[in-house]
Amino acid sequence: MSVTDFDDQMLSLGLARVSEAAALASARLIGGGDEKAADQAAVNAMREALNALPIRGTVVIGEGERDEAPMLYIGEEVGGGAGPQVDIALDPLEGTTLTAKDMPNALTVIAMAPRGTLLHAPDVYMEKLAIGPGYAQDVVSLEMPPAERVKALARAKGVKMAEITVCVLERPRHQAMIDELRGTGCAIRLITDGDVAGVIHCAETEATGIDIYMGSGGAPEGVLAASALKCMGGQMWGQLLFRNDDERGRAEKAGISDLNRVYARDELVTADVIFAATGVTDGSIVTGVKRRPAHLETETILMRSKSGSVRRMQYRVPA
Ligand code: FBP
Repeated sequence: MSVTDFDDQMLSLGLARVSEAAALASARLIGGGDEKAADQAAVNAMREALNALPIRGTVVIGEGERDEAPMLYIGEEVGGGAGPQVDIALDPLEGTTLTAKDMPNALTVIAMAPRGTLLHAPDVYMEKLAIGPGYAQDVVSLEMPPAERVKALARAKGVKMAEITVCVLERPRHQAMIDELRGTGCAIRLITDGDVAGVIHCAETEATGIDIYMGSGGAPEGVLAASALKCMGGQMWGQLLFRNDDERGRAEKAGISDLNRVYARDELVTADVIFAATGVTDGSIVTGVKRRPAHLETETILMRSKSGSVRRMQYRVPA
């Protein structure tokens, strides 16, 4: 089956169903303080819904290596066993802590693309940089120091540096970067978790107020974020970070030989992709699962890179 046989239009609604199923399952555990239970509920529901799709899918970004994750592990074959061969990147619950603590921006996330076109990112950190659409190519880069990126982006946007908002994961490892950014006078939106949402925020600056995302987070989440930006427009770069030989070994096992490579968005995702994310808790991109007296409601963002279409879909199901 060739890349052109990937019927993204037909498959996209199925992808939304998968994402909705995971959100509905984990929503029962919002605010329950149990991250693992919330994640497991999302994993079970996502796997069941994925297996109902007419695809021959391989999980390339999943819950972990086969020996660490019993379900939706990297390499697991999913789908109904007939249909196009596709790569699947997923995070059944992006923001397990956000869900357990009932904090904003927890999402269920899934992307699908033709076989062999999503980077098999190992479970290591990735240095990430992202901006929204409308800027000249490479107006900022990973090679630039953080303050210089803000300066370049402000110049390109035609605003003062104080009018730029940078989104950063609040982690001790980012303190030096935050200190440097403070020197520019820009605003910094610190998030406690959820850098897929952090990156997506850049693509809708008017709604979210965020111009640029920077800092390190999970590499698997980097591929998911690149999938979303490929649909919405925007630029992103990622570079894998390794803390030890075990992590370098994971990359080699995934077939990555150049460990220092900087991947641009379209090198993380090399063909057309479809992407769905459903809100678990309320966020700036989609609202979370709502419990009404007689039914549950979800909101899903469903996107296709081929058409650049972005749908927001509400789904209502009896409680
Ligand atoms: P989980 O939902 O798996 O807990 O991941 C949340 C997250 O914040 C990601 O969005 C991010 O990429 C990663 O964790 C950052 O890792 P760390 O918490 O180690 O800084």
